[in-house]
Amino acid sequence: MGPTPAKRDVLSVTDLADDLPHLLARARELKAARRRGRREPLLAGANVAMIFEKPSTRTRTSFEVGVNDLGGHALYLSPKDLQLGRGETIADTARVLSRYVDGIVYRAFRHADVVELARHASVPVVNALDDLEHPCQIAADLLTLHEQWDGDFSGRRLAWVGDGNNVLHSLLLGAAAVGLDLVAATPAAYRPRPEVVEAAQALARRTGANLAFTDRPADAARGADALYTDVWVSMGDEAEAAAREAAFRGFCLDDALVARAKPTAVVLHDLPAHRGQEITDSVMDGPHSVVWDQAENRLHAQKAILELLLGGRPRGRRGRR
Ligand code: CP
Ligand code: NVA
Repeated sequence: MGPTPAKRDVLSVTDLADDLPHLLARARELKAARRRGRREPLLAGANVAMIFEKPSTRTRTSFEVGVNDLGGHALYLSPKDLQLGRGETIADTARVLSRYVDGIVYRAFRHADVVELARHASVPVVNALDDLEHPCQIAADLLTLHEQWDGDFSGRRLAWVGDGNNVLHSLLLGAAAVGLDLVAATPAAYRPRPEVVEAAQALARRTGANLAFTDRPADAARGADALYTDVWVSMGDEAEAAAREAAFRGFCLDDALVARAKPTAVVLHDLPAHRGQEITDSVMDGPHSVVWDQAENRLHAQKAILELLLGGRPRGRRGRR
């Protein structure tokens, strides 16, 4: 038996940056195949552990269904039920799970914990959202725009209206990687982290994408090809809810903002939405909204990610003996 091939993790969008064109095309193939009722057993015999420290509707369900579609088996593990909740270390959890499963999907409060798990796991680890990034979401978002624009991001501009949070971080990196211009409008106190902006600018220099920042939603929306917003209070930020709700007044994606964008503009939201707060009902349910395609695309994009990470790896070769 030869050595197990090196494993690959997706902790950040930067881990996918070079693969995005192929990944998005592959996700579209997988989506079309599923619509025809075809599901290829690309992960036959694979077991995927899913640790979720926070609630999830889309990520959990789409990963579980995606693994199942590909002929594998997914196990949902709540930290409440794992010894992790009683003080077993992340490193030891990673070592043990690596002896059973072929991949680990992890939604965590702290990015450092996702990095720690990946460092000690001998199988691929996928970040299913943490305080810094949400890479799987952005793969689905780019897939949605790829469908809308026939795969051509050049000359397109995406406007972000809202918090400088995990979703914006991953979106900046993803847009920069595919050459999509992005203008982010956030309140001055809620800008994206400088180290993420710097990493995104480095990717943008390679692709020619233009990244810009403002605290005026109307400026960001003007002439945009797509508008994107997310909750004002992310999971883990609940203690700041009152201050955030005050700071984000004026950052609601409403009909007036949509009217500033191109007539053909599409509206994105990663969901769950707080209707009436960061987005109005009329925009969520209106003609520009592609939010349900975006939610569906989590499934197809994540299947392409799983194929990339697990597709060629032998099953059940673990440890040193
Ligand atoms: N967009 C997203 O990640 O949704 P869930 O929290 O429901 O997984
Ligand atoms: N920014 C949000 C995204 C939820 C999918 C959060 O972290 O709660």
